[in-house]
Amino acid sequence: MSTKLGIIGAGGMLQYHAAGVKESGGEIIAIADMNLAAAQSAAETYGIGQVFASADEMLAAVPEIDAVSIIVPNKFHAPLAIQCLNAGKHVFCEKPPALNAAQTQEMVDAATQAGKHLMFNFNNRARPEAYAMMEYIKNGDVGEIQTAQAKWARRTGIPGFGGWFTTKAMSGGGAVIDLPHMMDLALHFMGYPEPAYVLANTFDTFISDKRFKGPWGIPDRADGVTDVECAAHGVVTFKSGQVLTVQISWAEMVKREEVSVVFQGTKAGGKMERLFGIDGLDETAIDSCELYVQENGNSVNRDIITEACEDMGRIRSMANFVAVIEGKEEPLNTMDQALKLMKIVDGIYESARTQAPVAL
Ligand SMILES: NC(=O)c1ccc[n+]([C@@H]2O[C@H](COP(=O)([O-])OP(=O)(O)OC[C@H]3O[C@@H](n4cnc5c(N)ncnc54)[C@H](O)[C@@H]3O)[C@@H](O)[C@H]2O)c1
Repeated sequence: MSTKLGIIGAGGMLQYHAAGVKESGGEIIAIADMNLAAAQSAAETYGIGQVFASADEMLAAVPEIDAVSIIVPNKFHAPLAIQCLNAGKHVFCEKPPALNAAQTQEMVDAATQAGKHLMFNFNNRARPEAYAMMEYIKNGDVGEIQTAQAKWARRTGIPGFGGWFTTKAMSGGGAVIDLPHMMDLALHFMGYPEPAYVLANTFDTFISDKRFKGPWGIPDRADGVTDVECAAHGVVTFKSGQVLTVQISWAEMVKREEVSVVFQGTKAGGKMERLFGIDGLDETAIDSCELYVQENGNSVNRDIITEACEDMGRIRSMANFVAVIEGKEEPLNTMDQALKLMKIVDGIYESARTQAPVAL
């Protein structure tokens, strides 16, 4: 029997969740959105039978739901996930896991109590390049990754002014919490070590400057709040001695949008990178996945060729969740890892606030 899913949130990301469920052989049987018209329109597009204006109504009316996908602004991740877990559902939640580590811990506790899966959409781990790179790492070809650099740097990518993305009470923060993907991917490659210290600073230089608005995102709200960072730079050390350098921005003076993890291992270095085009994902965008080794007295650079994946693993990531529930695949991410990531995110904000290193 196929896994039956309910969806909460009929916004921009739903298309990938819907495609992922389809790929997995699961079935979306209900959808809820506080904007009922958005839920109805999505139901028509994806052939979803039951439509609701709230998660409460959906959970009460459709007990046969096995799992819920949560695709709403960050503030609602924790309360909705905990509600669904308490109702006995598996949960797939969009990134970031929650507004902070304390909330993430509450979600983890609820999942443990319920004995249900709780996974997050760290979709970059599901890109073909990431799967391929992990094979080299697992096989021992890279050795121990001692240092890594995680970067998601945008030049003009503020996702609207005054909407939920730029209101800290709704989002938990700006670029750092919105674009944690490369930090997560670097940690995935590094073996998700235990963090020790963070030293970082955040910048809000362009956060109210309309010239730095992204080509996508949500409409501006004149009466809305814009109180988050548009860039952060920092360094994270680990109890293992490993070191991760981080650069994350919606808006800073870089040449073009760069999304990358670079690492230095004891046997090989490597890079997984997407350079976005001039206008987002256009024909000038360049994906690369490389290994750097010393062989026969030569410096050798190897290209790892994988299929193109425009959606950055979003469809596969959702499909993995359903396969995990059905016992067909190992989970691409764990609750423990989400907690570590959110401790680092909290540490970046705390270090910026105190202008001092933070022990984690
Ligand atoms: N993994 C990725 O690559 C990626 C990319 C973009 C966004 N996201 C994440 O996806 C989530 C949603 O982003 P989006 O771009 O789809 O947002 P969106 O603003 O397009 O849509 C959110 C939807 O949720 C609904 N909603 C809000 N609160 C609700 C509630 N309490 N109950 C029911 N419905 C509610 C809204 O009416 C809206 O239709 C965010 O957490 C964001 O960080 C992830």
